Amino acid sequence: MIIDHLRNFFFREFIDKNVISLLKKDMEPFNVLLSYYRCAMMQVETKFNILNEQFSLRYDRNPIENIKTRLKSVESIAKKIQARNLPLSIDAVAENINDIAGVRVICSFIDDIYLLADCLLKQDDVQLVASKDYIKNPKPGGYRSLHLIVNVPIFLEQGRREMKVEVQLRTIAMDFWASVDHKIRYKKNIPEKDLAEISRELLECADICADMDTRMEVLRGKVFTD
Ligand code: GTP
Ligand code: MG
Repeated sequence: MIIDHLRNFFFREFIDKNVISLLKKDMEPFNVLLSYYRCAMMQVETKFNILNEQFSLRYDRNPIENIKTRLKSVESIAKKIQARNLPLSIDAVAENINDIAGVRVICSFIDDIYLLADCLLKQDDVQLVASKDYIKNPKPGGYRSLHLIVNVPIFLEQGRREMKVEVQLRTIAMDFWASVDHKIRYKKNIPEKDLAEISRELLECADICADMDTRMEVLRGKVFTD
């Protein structure tokens, strides 16, 4: 089924038929690789659930509102391979695409984002590959979140294997903005004449969300002292 999916996709995008047959040949190891990413994603999700549990015992509050996981679709992986001109090999995919496994952690407060990121990175089986702090340095469009690419081990029949996982940590307000932005603008073709105004409005909304986050943080400080 995935092969059909890929074939349809590549025909739609008018890609060389050789690419299809190469991918077809590689389909089984590719599916195995995807299942490894799924395991790594579960591993990271569990780590956050454990931290949440521990905090709720220690401080009587849950820093995490919600955790979402997603495995990158075959189509998106194929698009990235093509856009970056990567060789069609399992190794090239594993080495160059960092966001096949994604874990999104939604918190109520900005402080909790950094607290959770620290707790995760302190764990001796978690290795930081890269980080982008779009909270301290928001994207020009207004996007905010803390992004971490981490390596985590999964334990297979054949032994240990390190897998990369993209972790996005955000507040509820940042998530609200990002999901609406995604629907309205991100990777969408907005007519040129409307783009400037929509972008300005979205940026203003992002600033309002950031202001709310700061105010909520102040309120939190008044109620909780830990
Ligand atoms: P991708 O190739 O798209 O994964 O981007 P990148 O490799 O430059 O990584 P970056 O860390 O900048 O962004 C990765 C992810 O963050 C995206 O897939 C989105 O989930 C999210 N993101 C980044 N910028 C925006 C934005 O402007 N709006 C929204 N809604 N999401 C964004
Ligand atoms: Mg991405």
